[in-house]
Amino acid sequence: MSLEHRRRVAACIEDIGTDINRLSQNFYRHLLQDDPALSRVFSGNTAALNRKFFNMLAALKNVKHLEKIEASIQQLGERHGCQYAVLAEHFTPTKKALVTALEEHLGDGFSAELRQAWDAVFDEVADLMKVAISAAPPAEDDSAPVTGYDGDLLQAIGGEEVVLRIHRRFYDVIFEEPWLGKFFRGKHETTLARKQTEFMVAAFGGENRYRGDTPAFVHMHMLITREQLEVREALLRDAIRAEGLSEEIVERWLRVDRGFWAGLVKTSEEECVLKCFGQYPVVAKMPQGYVSVANTSTAVDDG
Ligand code: HEM
Ligand code: HEM
Repeated sequence: MSLEHRRRVAACIEDIGTDINRLSQNFYRHLLQDDPALSRVFSGNTAALNRKFFNMLAALKNVKHLEKIEASIQQLGERHGCQYAVLAEHFTPTKKALVTALEEHLGDGFSAELRQAWDAVFDEVADLMKVAISAAPPAEDDSAPVTGYDGDLLQAIGGEEVVLRIHRRFYDVIFEEPWLGKFFRGKHETTLARKQTEFMVAAFGGENRYRGDTPAFVHMHMLITREQLEVREALLRDAIRAEGLSEEIVERWLRVDRGFWAGLVKTSEEECVLKCFGQYPVVAKMPQGYVSVANTSTAVDDG
């Protein structure tokens, strides 16, 4: 796969822009026509399916840096095998449906060179993922439920404005938090609250307006430990509770959030993946005498 192939595919995905949901519908139509059994793997309503499709393209766009992100693509493969019940043989029908949908969508714009570029980029990423899938233990039958999505939650929460208010409150606290705050130095709080809201609104069954990278990619240079994720969860729980939402909703929200942890969590600096020259792993040591500011006691355990 040449750099030119990668550049072409990334530019093509950029150009698709807001038409992505239409392309997604065509992709699933072809995929499920050719291989109806795949509806077991690609489950959920239209919003959920569009989000999965968007994630796939977001990851393919990042292969501009494939050498740098090889480890994270392998981890992505592992998650596909262990959590999403994806098998190596699923990649062929997926590519076929993707190429057919692109052909339909782009018409004459889908030149022979562009087709070749998509072919090469998809195969290279798929090959890396497949190695990890065959090395990973198979998913339990009927597959472990994927928790990164709860299609009815946005309505139960009361809409996007409520999610945004909660995130603003959450980031107000986390930016000042003595330990986790270290990750956020120099970051723009309002922008993050907005992006996090767009991302979670899609995960809660709302419209997908998030156009950033997948969480695994965004955080791949950060050494985020399980303990830090638990501290963050306690802060998030406080922020949701402060809105007066029921405990049932609080738990559903946190369950969706936990669905993304597997892609983020690391145990050592060596697992951090750097995307570009000059980037360095972001590591936040626990400050001496640290006490979490979270009100809830479920946050940190000694393990
Ligand atoms: C080159 C090929 C592919 C790429 C780059 C890709 C990328 C992604 C990404 C980035 C996610 C988001 C979740 C995460 O980071 O763990 C995802 C989720 C998922 N993918 Fe793929 N994928 C590919 C192929 C496939 C294939 C062949 C299948 C099955 C036929 C599949 C099924 C799924 C499912 C079921 C999810 C779970 C999403 C959810 O419920 O939130 N993917 N994929
Ligand atoms: C302790 C855990 C976490 C830490 C320390 C952390 C830290 C960060 C930081 C520093 C950024 C800004 C990145 C940048 O602008 O360069 C960011 C962005 C983001 N994070 Fe996290 N994060 C954590 C957990 C999570 C989880 C669990 C999710 C998913 C539910 C998530 C979703 C996002 C999203 C969607 C963005 C915006 C990405 C964009 O700019 O497009 N984060 N995070």
